[in-house]
Amino acid sequence: MQEKIFVISTKNTHYVVGVDGDGNLQHLHWGKKARETDYSFGLNGEYNSNLDMIKQEYTVFGGTMYRPCSFKCEYLDKCRDTLMKFDSAQEGDGSLDITLKDSAYSLYVTLCYRYSNDSDVITRFVKIENKSQNEIKIHRLMSAEISLPGEEAYDVTNTIGGWGSELQLETQTLKNGTVSFESRKGITGHTNSPFVILSQNADEDNGEVYFACLGYGGNFKIEVNRDYMYKTRAYLGLSDFDFSHNLKAGEIFESPKAYIGYCNGFAQMSNMMNHFAVDNILPKDFAHKPLPVLYNSWEATEFDVNTEHQLKLARLAKSIGCELFVMDDGWFGQRKNDHAGLGDWYVNEEKFPNGIDELINGVNDLGMDFGLWFEPEMVNPDSDLYRAHPDWTYHYDSRTPSLVRNQLVLNITKPEVEQYIFDCLDSMLSNHNIRYIKWDMNRPFSEIGAENLENQQELWYRHTKAVYSIADRLKEKYPYLQLEACASGGGRADYGALSHFDMVWTSDNTDPVDRLDIQRGFSMVYPIKCMRAWVTDWNSSTRPVSLDFRFNSSMQGSLSIGSNLLNYSDEELEKSRKYIAFYKNIREVVQFGDLYRLKNYGENGFYANQYVSADRSKSVVFICTSANSMFNRQYKSIRLKGLDENADYRLKADNCEIVKSGVYFNSVPIDVNIWRALDSKIWLLEKV
Ligand code: DGJ
Repeated sequence: MQEKIFVISTKNTHYVVGVDGDGNLQHLHWGKKARETDYSFGLNGEYNSNLDMIKQEYTVFGGTMYRPCSFKCEYLDKCRDTLMKFDSAQEGDGSLDITLKDSAYSLYVTLCYRYSNDSDVITRFVKIENKSQNEIKIHRLMSAEISLPGEEAYDVTNTIGGWGSELQLETQTLKNGTVSFESRKGITGHTNSPFVILSQNADEDNGEVYFACLGYGGNFKIEVNRDYMYKTRAYLGLSDFDFSHNLKAGEIFESPKAYIGYCNGFAQMSNMMNHFAVDNILPKDFAHKPLPVLYNSWEATEFDVNTEHQLKLARLAKSIGCELFVMDDGWFGQRKNDHAGLGDWYVNEEKFPNGIDELINGVNDLGMDFGLWFEPEMVNPDSDLYRAHPDWTYHYDSRTPSLVRNQLVLNITKPEVEQYIFDCLDSMLSNHNIRYIKWDMNRPFSEIGAENLENQQELWYRHTKAVYSIADRLKEKYPYLQLEACASGGGRADYGALSHFDMVWTSDNTDPVDRLDIQRGFSMVYPIKCMRAWVTDWNSSTRPVSLDFRFNSSMQGSLSIGSNLLNYSDEELEKSRKYIAFYKNIREVVQFGDLYRLKNYGENGFYANQYVSADRSKSVVFICTSANSMFNRQYKSIRLKGLDENADYRLKADNCEIVKSGVYFNSVPIDVNIWRALDSKIWLLEKV
């Protein structure tokens, strides 16, 4: 076969693959740009055709290939061996599709790449097409495989944590074997996040960084392997745990998207991905709009909601500057606590005897939009829905269903269940002025029987697709609707959700100190504006943290209020009002600017995060000390980043102002006069 080389050219990088003389698609380069004509197979154009050794661009299971693979299937004749050779390619403006075909079967695998000159993020996905007359069973499907250059070991970063401790960054050097990050719970969950960072000697500013994020929040898998040749590869896509998919004759299965990028240092990675997501991933209607300051009732009232109480909170929320009022759990069915009501999405008449419009109109009259909490995928056994349709949950007749938080997961792979959920939400939205939905999901799947499916292992994928489809249908019908994805805190904080929901809840832990580490983890690859961050009363009695500190911490994302404002003194309300007004002044900088993580608890004993507006005219720095009083006796200084070196800036801090050049601020560390534990400061810089 004639050799062929394809060069994907992004803003600063080249991604190069080539078809060798044997028809294998090989990975040739990803990184800095060379001359396009420089790329070739080896020194003299030689290549290795041993499947276990070559750098296949997309490894399939079969022949003498023994590494982890990206694709595995079974043909009708029970053959589970695949041999993929180059078939055709289609190059367009910012797109490359390379199709491989099994040499013995009519199975086509198309590797799709989407890219542009504006960014170094490449979107990848794979289409599997069955052009044969027979069904083909897919057993493993990765959205992308990444071959890393060189033989040196890579540092692999993902997250670890649980409920209340989501997104804790963890880095390990992978010298041998395979490390995998995944979820088997039906949603992303709280432990591993569907992204991976691969780097060598990298820090915030320097070092080669390769990263990949998956646009999928169901059962996912990321594997990184260093093989016997010391080659490192990463694979990301659908989890192969309890997964298979029957691809009927003539059908196409498209993988979730993966977003991959190469850059120098972690700050570049985060900012690149932040901007790329705002421009290309988030639902269009709100992607470029700053998110409102909202009030959420959960921590103040829990299930105990009624018109009068909520309106009291709403009046106070409005008085301090909130723009949206969200009533959380408790408003529907027979919901007095978490034992009953899920599934019955009609207004509880005892709590709202005059209907919910009394509250909604009251909130609207104050000049705020109204939002409402739902947990659409769930049902309590103690509910009208479950009594009417006990067969609407995932279940096996031979097993007692495991209750988690007293609830079961609805089998929304049944079209009538998906439709029921859509109708419930649709009916609330069409009858009431609801402009925001917080979509919660509070338990993992169990007893995963779905008798409606011919192949029950399809349920994981089909469930996730159904969630996304309901979200899309709602957004299409109500373009003004903002959607927040939540799963017991940060269990659905991923790019799958963020392709259909405008924002996510990152943790139920609203302790402002713990939150800084959670927010740091999120900021690595996810867009800052999508991170709802509440000021609450959490821990204020056991480890008092000042209101200033709490605002400081929450203003580093999409500021929200979750405190019981009825307990606030006049001074606290006034302070909140001032901070919210200040936030509105810097909101564009935080939500759309570049972020520089200057200091963090783990490495420096204190936090300093700097946000710089896109035009570099404005910057804000948040500084927070830790609870450790010894650390806080140490000297602290911070060198700023990202400022325009041809301009002067006025820095306002500690009731004083100084004017100096951008070069000065970017080069000379400035002393931070902060010595007490759990103290905080905000610096504002504006171009003069
Ligand atoms: C879990 C969420 O993370 C909380 O914010 C709150 O909405 C509760 N569920 C309500 O049950």
